[in-house]
Amino acid sequence: MKQNIGILTGGGDCPGLNPAIKAATKKALESGFNVIGIREGWQGLMDKSLAPLDLNLDNVRHIDRAGGTILGTSRTNPFKVNNGSDIICETLDRLRVHALVAIGGEDTLGVAHKLYEQRKVNVVAIPKTIDRDLSYTDYSLGFESALQVITDSVDSLRSTAESHARIFVVEVMGRHAGHLALRGGISSAASVILIPEYAFDINRVCEILLARKDRGLRYSIVMVAEGAMPQGLDMTIISQETDSFGHVRLGGIGHFLASAIEDRTKLESRAVILSHLQRGGKPVAYDRRLGFYFGTAAIEAIIAQNFGSMVAIKNGHIHCAPLSEAIKELRLVNIEQCYDVIDYRAKNRVLIS
Ligand code: F6P
Repeated sequence: MKQNIGILTGGGDCPGLNPAIKAATKKALESGFNVIGIREGWQGLMDKSLAPLDLNLDNVRHIDRAGGTILGTSRTNPFKVNNGSDIICETLDRLRVHALVAIGGEDTLGVAHKLYEQRKVNVVAIPKTIDRDLSYTDYSLGFESALQVITDSVDSLRSTAESHARIFVVEVMGRHAGHLALRGGISSAASVILIPEYAFDINRVCEILLARKDRGLRYSIVMVAEGAMPQGLDMTIISQETDSFGHVRLGGIGHFLASAIEDRTKLESRAVILSHLQRGGKPVAYDRRLGFYFGTAAIEAIIAQNFGSMVAIKNGHIHCAPLSEAIKELRLVNIEQCYDVIDYRAKNRVLIS
């Protein structure tokens, strides 16, 4: 009898998940496995009403062009539920799942690691997160697609910013990591980039904007990460309520900053919160390609019985890392290790305290 491989997607969705699901399904079928899609992340292994989906060549054929995940996702932490890991193991037994491909970020992979360590579940992970904050891998699915949304959005803002001679503060996601704001800011040539790793000085932001105005520039774009903080203040949060992994909802810095800039400079300022648009749309070419590589590599890892691992790309090579390494610490921005740091500093575009 053929063995079953389960695939699930957990945490925030992003473009790139479907290409990974398709590639893993194709490789698994070619290698003689059955493939079942677990719905709604870890929730699908805890809630009997969520019947799994049989994955076959017909129902994955066209999915690589679409964003999101055909399996659905949720922010479910089984270790926060009474007997949660027992329920997961019972379901895996009932569904005769030999090995599980868990596609997710820090939280989903943390659960995968615990299930492997504590319950000996045969798990292989695929990294995805637009935040790009997982260690060990140089890339996590979704990041480039999100950057494209940011870049296209700023392109669209420029004409109205210029017509009205306004400052636009563009707030982007990333939680505690500034990769999206930094690279999104560089890709879209923002005048000022503010990231959580370096608390910023509002007065300095205003000086830069006024200097631009004095040079005859009619408008400016300020890119700010949702987790960025002005010196001496806390991160701004939308809600104190935490999800099952203990995260509060960040956000609000965009509006705060736009009004602080307007107060201090008297330049008309507006905030644009890109929010979940950054996780929407279809995957850019890189996310499709990496999705294919990661999906295929995950099944190769299962065949090699390399469980408790995460597929990764490092220096251009696809390989596997122990999950423990991948989730050990959040990967944050260190400006000193970035390309062209002298240019950033000289222009004071990325404000470093
Ligand atoms: O972790 C990815 C992420 O997109 C963060 O950048 C953001 O803070 C968070 O998810 C938003 O989560 P939700 O979709 O639950 O609002």
